[in-house]
Amino acid sequence: MEMEPEQKHEPHLEYKGAHQAFRERWKQTDDTMCRHSMSFHLHHTLRSEFFASYLYLLEKIPVVKLFPVTCEIIKGEKQFYYRAQQFYQDVPASEEGMMGDFVEISNIDLEGSRQFLQRFVGPGKAGTHCALDCGSGIGRVTKGVLLPVFEKMEMADMMEHFLLHAHEKYLGEDADRIETYYCYTLQEFTPPRNKYDLIWMQWVACHLTDKDLMNFLKRCKKSLRPNGVIILKDNMARQGCKLDSIDSSISRHLDIMRGIIAVAGLEVLAVEKQEGLPDIIMPVWMIAMK
Ligand SMILES: C[S@@+](CC[C@H](N)C(=O)[O-])C[C@H]1O[C@@H](n2cnc3c(N)ncnc32)[C@H](O)[C@@H]1O
Repeated sequence: MEMEPEQKHEPHLEYKGAHQAFRERWKQTDDTMCRHSMSFHLHHTLRSEFFASYLYLLEKIPVVKLFPVTCEIIKGEKQFYYRAQQFYQDVPASEEGMMGDFVEISNIDLEGSRQFLQRFVGPGKAGTHCALDCGSGIGRVTKGVLLPVFEKMEMADMMEHFLLHAHEKYLGEDADRIETYYCYTLQEFTPPRNKYDLIWMQWVACHLTDKDLMNFLKRCKKSLRPNGVIILKDNMARQGCKLDSIDSSISRHLDIMRGIIAVAGLEVLAVEKQEGLPDIIMPVWMIAMK
């Protein structure tokens, strides 16, 4: 059945209705309920109305469902991050390791990135002095997209073995143009102020919680030079948010990602889908912002 137009734009309307009904009923029955504190009525109200609206929230607003997952803490460690650390410890420092099971799409991905990047650098746009690759891994993007454009580069990743491999082997002689390797998690990393013409974040935003991603984007904004641009490239869920509990990552719908970017105070310059990927892969989108 077609929904009323206003309902389309107000996904919480049904929840609000349940909430309002609950409030009104509570007001009316307040006195009786308080006298018999766990009366049948209270029990019934809690079960059928409070939990019904809570379940509705869980189903309709994926962030509500994800919050307990991404914020679970065991022995002082946020499990969402702990699991990703454990996962990447066993990932080989190679292109196959960076691409999971999909190394065959690496060239298509790099070509799409090169073309997208072209739109934002050059006279009157971002400079080509220095770029930062966040969640760089061994430097697949640094090597294939960024080093041909920028004079100097910096790389940030939480796994030391990826950065060592980049420096000692993968980047070859171009490793001389990497000014600094930062071995930090992005949730803890503050990039230097006013330094970069471009910040690239590929397949790593998915490893940050909403709040940490928002705060990291805010810090990135401060580390851009005039005309500098941030490009985020990642899997975007077709609907809501999707948690991958194996590598501990969340794929968000493009609109949810746009929401996080807006709250971080960044302006979206362009959004483009990566073409040429097989249908079984989750859609990959590029977002340029400043
Ligand atoms: C799928 S790989 C992508 C690597 C690279 N961006 C590319 O496209 O080839 C994800 C990378 O993010 C890094 N990573 C995951 N979570 C991170 C975090 N919280 N902080 C910093 N790096 C992280 C991993 O170590 C890994 O190198």
